[in-house]
Amino acid sequence: MRFPEYQDIHVLHVNRLPNRATLIPWAETDQALSGQRKASPFYMDLNGRWDFSWFENVESVPGDLAGDMDFSTIQVPGCWQMQGYGFPQYTNSAYPIPFDPPYVSKENQVGLYRRFFQLPEAFEGRHTRIRFEGVDSAFYVFINGFQAGFSKGSHMPAEFDLTQWLHEGRNELRVLVMQYSDGTYLEDQDMWRMSGIFRDVMLLSFPEKPIWDVRVQAGYDAQTGNGSLRAEIDAQGLERIDCTLLNPDGSLCAAETVPVIGESAVWQITVEQAQAWSAETPDRYTLLCRIPGQLECVRTGFVTVEVKNRQFYVNGVSIKLKGVNRHDTHATLGHYTPMDVMLEDVRIMKRHNINTVRTSHYPNDPRFLSLCDEYGLYVVDETDLECHGVNHLGNYHLLAADPEWEEQFVDRGIRMVMRDRNHPCVIMWSLGNEAGYGCNHEAMAAAMRALDPSRPIHYHSHLMFWDAKVSDIASYMYTDFDSIDTYLKSGSPKPYFLCEYAHAMGQGPGNLEDYWQKIYRTPAFIGGCVWEFVDHACVKMRDGKPYYAYGGDFGEYPHSGHFCVDALMYPDRTPHTGMIEYAHVLRPVRAELTDEKNGRLRIRNLYAFTALSELQAVWRVEWMGKTIKQGTFSTRTAPGKVSRVDLPLGTYPQGSFLNIDWALTKDTLWARAGFVVAGEQLKLSLGYDVPVVHLPDGAPLKVSETDGMITAAGSDFEIRFDDQGLCGWKQISENLLESGMKVNLWRAVTDNDRRTANDWKKLGIDRLLCRNVRRCVQMEENTACITLENVYAPKSRRPVVRVVQDYRVHRNGEVDLHIRYIPLQQDMPFLPRLGMRLTMPRRYDRIAYLGRGPMENYSDKKTAARIGYYTQTVEENHEPYVFPQENGSHQDTSFVRILQAAGTGLEIAGDAFSFSVHHYTQELLDEAQHTYDLHDENLTEVCFDGVMGPLGSASCGPLPMRDRLYLTEERAFDFRFRWIDVQTES
Ligand code: GAL
Ligand code: MG
Repeated sequence: MRFPEYQDIHVLHVNRLPNRATLIPWAETDQALSGQRKASPFYMDLNGRWDFSWFENVESVPGDLAGDMDFSTIQVPGCWQMQGYGFPQYTNSAYPIPFDPPYVSKENQVGLYRRFFQLPEAFEGRHTRIRFEGVDSAFYVFINGFQAGFSKGSHMPAEFDLTQWLHEGRNELRVLVMQYSDGTYLEDQDMWRMSGIFRDVMLLSFPEKPIWDVRVQAGYDAQTGNGSLRAEIDAQGLERIDCTLLNPDGSLCAAETVPVIGESAVWQITVEQAQAWSAETPDRYTLLCRIPGQLECVRTGFVTVEVKNRQFYVNGVSIKLKGVNRHDTHATLGHYTPMDVMLEDVRIMKRHNINTVRTSHYPNDPRFLSLCDEYGLYVVDETDLECHGVNHLGNYHLLAADPEWEEQFVDRGIRMVMRDRNHPCVIMWSLGNEAGYGCNHEAMAAAMRALDPSRPIHYHSHLMFWDAKVSDIASYMYTDFDSIDTYLKSGSPKPYFLCEYAHAMGQGPGNLEDYWQKIYRTPAFIGGCVWEFVDHACVKMRDGKPYYAYGGDFGEYPHSGHFCVDALMYPDRTPHTGMIEYAHVLRPVRAELTDEKNGRLRIRNLYAFTALSELQAVWRVEWMGKTIKQGTFSTRTAPGKVSRVDLPLGTYPQGSFLNIDWALTKDTLWARAGFVVAGEQLKLSLGYDVPVVHLPDGAPLKVSETDGMITAAGSDFEIRFDDQGLCGWKQISENLLESGMKVNLWRAVTDNDRRTANDWKKLGIDRLLCRNVRRCVQMEENTACITLENVYAPKSRRPVVRVVQDYRVHRNGEVDLHIRYIPLQQDMPFLPRLGMRLTMPRRYDRIAYLGRGPMENYSDKKTAARIGYYTQTVEENHEPYVFPQENGSHQDTSFVRILQAAGTGLEIAGDAFSFSVHHYTQELLDEAQHTYDLHDENLTEVCFDGVMGPLGSASCGPLPMRDRLYLTEERAFDFRFRWIDVQTES
């Protein structure tokens, strides 16, 4: 057989060099310290344009691989599916190939890459290696016609020594990449399936007898404040190594010439009063190891992680892991995430108070870890291993429990440890994801522990194996509080960690604050990582315009639809509202008002290592968007402690809020001084009365009833009612409504609703018909009282609800509505909303409101959205979810004004109600499957709800954990409507 290796479970590689850390050989110290690998004369970048030939399957690859063939060109690193060859496929767990290991499908695309290079002068007379940081899925390397090696394991580096085949002048490199290999059975991660050389490629030059590897262990003793460094330098055949350690500020810490004994030199020193590394204090020391012709540089940090007392400790402090799951994903580059994208990701995490990242579900690009070291993020480093697809065969443990696969499991684990163990940011090793459980896990865990006993091992262990021998942490996914409590009562000594929770698909996630209340209350609950960081989508064109495509949009089979757009960030890395909520929930400072009269606050510092003197707070008493009084303060609150502060709040009107913002006092790598890291809004309950101004009465009302239409006319308005509600409003010559108010119990289904939406549809609340039961008009003094009572039922089903609307039209043009929803069925599921909607002409295209904003918010996703007075356009109120769904609602609203440019329009006032406004209807929103389906319908739809239901995260997690909206008994709400001219409103 041609190319037997890529379908042979027992061939891990051919000629691949021993695993080692990610190290670039340097010539001089200043080059090494610059961190710019291009500064090294012993580094040659092979990224760029390569020749490329693509074959639909292995059979069509020409016999003579070294011969002439048609080449086009391709960008390296990159995925060929993103560059016009084949198409990307998104599948969650179903394997993209038949399950027939070690064989893969005959439809196995092949890419043949070619590039020529000439060795730089500095490489002459030395050994040259080629290094691939990641190639999906298996590949053969040919140099000047000779096969130099083979490797598999997509997200791991592979190095080959090319020296014997190189010659002066032009050398020809060819790389043959298989789309699938037996490794595909172990790389069934929920993601777009893409192929090719998707990470950096480089040539590295070494002296004949080189330093092979440098292993660093740098622990921190919180008792003494000392750091202990142990560097083991593999340098067989050499005599001595010059070792130097530099302090974080670049000054000399220690230096020594260390003899090589046997295969390695060991340098062990204690640094007294060391600067400890943590995500909050990412101070790094630099280790330099020099021999003639090679200098290696390792950035290290003194840090000790421990699992004890059922908690997770960093440098002696019990910490919480405020995490996200991150894939290497990009909307135009696929799995290639260049340095600037990774840097942006890290900065976004830091700016949103995230301190932990799980590299789901494979080791990320190695430079990502260097950024985590530098900027300060804890990393749960995950082995490139997932066999979720075996679930479809009815045995989750099929591969994990099959010793045939042991070598591959072990190989993947140790390659990660050997690549990444020098990084202070790594706080746990992960055995992979969703691969069942079996002896292969035990073998890999043992091998990993032998290489690095200093870090705990995590393996997601919901279902059946929380007490699996291999893991030090009890890791679960998407559990609700009942299962958390059950675990906590179990007596297991392991801390509880949600390696995935709060599935951030579409509108949501709800309950983030509830999770964190629970985490802060529960020492053994050490935190979790939201699923996930960035939506996976591919930019595709339609009618000349780009849009985000998801599973199925390339005609692929199998596919998992839009389950890939399930993150806190849009594909272009702008934050979803869920991300803004998460940042607020994770804020490092929280405050409570303990004595409003004296302006007394209790301030809680939630940092583990940082005092609040690093922050400066600005406080403002605000009322109706106006600042009544403001000032600044700062406290020295120690990490994890509380303190008290008294603010001179002064006098303020009733309904005021105390808003506080804490900002950095110093520049950091990820934000400038002045950047706000935490905010708090505290409701003030005292304050002086604000007189209510009533509009003057106009002429007496004229009420008439014709053709089933009730009209109440005053001096400058005419308001009409049909059976369903208020349906026309003419103010002088301005027509406010395009269509009348109608009862609305439905919402465009969110991803998190989908589970419950079937019950809603059974009930028929998406298609209710209205039957009028009672209609009456009556004058009470100067007020027209109109009552409409209706029963709502869908075709083919029983009535669901009776709604009674009591309107009161006043002579001054104000209209009150008292609306009652009365259930007509028992055991109804919880509902999406209890509301009304109406449409106005498109020219009413802006809003002003007193409520939660400026971004959308829902009862279980609203803590970041402050109550305030906001003005926005209707367009701004739309949230462009990749898969369109309910969006743009605002809770705790006192009034909303929907206005045209001239400043006139309709005001809806009420008591802590919810509203949304859009230029499209709920029906269109519900039907739309892509952003291009959602067009402006030349109208303004206004929804206002007595209650809007919560969100939860049931797209993969629990139903809403609170606020579920049950209609078991009558529920009533009050609204007041009036025409308004904001120009004349004081
Ligand atoms: C988890 C899995 C993730 C992802 C998620 C759903 O079970 O680990 O990879 O598939 O579900 O989005
Ligand atoms: Mg999976």
